[in-house]
Amino acid sequence: MLATIVECGETFGIRIGNQLPSPREAITVAEHPAVGMSVTVRRFEGERDMVEQHPPIRTALVGCGVIGRTHAQVLAALPGYRLVAAIDRDADGASAIADLVAAQGDPRPRTAASLAEALAEGEPFELVVVATPSGLHVQLALEALDADRHVLVEKPLDVDLPRARALADAAREAADRGVLASVVSQHRLDPSTVALAAAIEQGRLGRITSAVASVPWWRGDDYYAAADWRGTWAMDGGGALMNQGVHTLDLLLALLGRPAQVTAEFARTAHEGIEVEDTLVGTIAFESGALAAVHATTAGYPGLGARLQVQGSAGSAVVEDDVLVSLHLADLENGADPRNAHASMLAQPDPAEALGLGWAGGHARQYLDLQAALHGRSRPAVPVEDAALVLATVRALYVSATLGRRIAVDAVLGGEHDEVVAAPTGTAALRR
Ligand SMILES: NC(=O)c1ccc[n+]([C@@H]2O[C@H](COP(=O)([O-])OP(=O)(O)OC[C@H]3O[C@@H](n4cnc5c(N)ncnc54)[C@H](O)[C@@H]3O)[C@@H](O)[C@H]2O)c1
Repeated sequence: MLATIVECGETFGIRIGNQLPSPREAITVAEHPAVGMSVTVRRFEGERDMVEQHPPIRTALVGCGVIGRTHAQVLAALPGYRLVAAIDRDADGASAIADLVAAQGDPRPRTAASLAEALAEGEPFELVVVATPSGLHVQLALEALDADRHVLVEKPLDVDLPRARALADAAREAADRGVLASVVSQHRLDPSTVALAAAIEQGRLGRITSAVASVPWWRGDDYYAAADWRGTWAMDGGGALMNQGVHTLDLLLALLGRPAQVTAEFARTAHEGIEVEDTLVGTIAFESGALAAVHATTAGYPGLGARLQVQGSAGSAVVEDDVLVSLHLADLENGADPRNAHASMLAQPDPAEALGLGWAGGHARQYLDLQAALHGRSRPAVPVEDAALVLATVRALYVSATLGRRIAVDAVLGGEHDEVVAAPTGTAALRR
């Protein structure tokens, strides 16, 4: 597709085909992958805009399994990145990813059995993406930061809070050397989340009073059997909340702020062959005074949509399966239909949409966000500290369910209760 740099109102923009962007769109559209190269347009106060061009960010992917494949597809679709190394202890997995990249027309990435091997071979890459089982995330991220490579870690940050604290410290030190660390939580960048966060920030929902976060999914025994780490404390670190519900919990914290105290119950209600919980229900009291109910399960056949409901003194919003399906605002009650408010709020360009990646578009947004940070234009949307707080909240809910009492999240974050071994009730005990 033809891309031309055009003058557009007061700014320069990129024209893609015959589409002339508005000045506001120009900033975003300029990063449109259809441009075929990594070009960014930067606006300077009182000056003309400047056009920057960067070489692709050379990337190594560690963990070439299910989500590794999504990363490889997204990296191949984004002109700002090039996957140069596919790393997996399973040689077939690494080769399959390398073949996938080559099939999309990019140079075939080198393969390696470990990150240490790729680093020792002097493979040139600036960014390491960690997509291994969760219990290996921090160890590999530390290895990357030690070698002065930027790092993007899949969610959850890790399964172990002491290790997560060590990574938060290392990430702070690395930032001083210009080395960045970020964590995948792609739904933070969904257009629905961005619009809702802006509405809350502008006070359009009034004072946030309560929320409900529910992830009522189904995972059969075949899901847990497909990889030996799933459903284990050592590598999955938890079940329905830690693995599946963590995205929605992260959104809850991103929208409602710092959690203060939690209570919870958890159990294995339908799965006998796993160590972790398949169902958790809990409550969170936020520092702001807002209250939330949390529900995560992999025992709800056939699985319903993930739902986040936020209530305030001047408005309420519902996000269902990543889409803002309703938004009621007091200031729209007179005249406009409040249910339609979300449509106008979402009318923003979404650079990931045009890639046609479907579900993987969320990861594309995360990579575009990181690209902007690596080129010095912003901070990553999801820093390690945020992911550590989410991990501490998950742990606090587990500790509360295990000890049977209310738990302060800051105490867990600081190391209190590190010794508590989470123990969900088994199905048999539940029946008694
Ligand atoms: N962001 C999301 O929406 C999303 C979705 C799915 C999974 N995930 C996360 O991604 C991670 C991986 O999940 P998955 O479903 O792809 O798992 P998976 O089992 O399909 O893949 C993991 C891969 O890591 C490899 N591996 C294990 N140890 C390794 C090591 N030391 N060095 C190199 N490779 C190693 C395995 O051989 C395997 O190929 C998990 O942390 C999971 O929570 C995130």
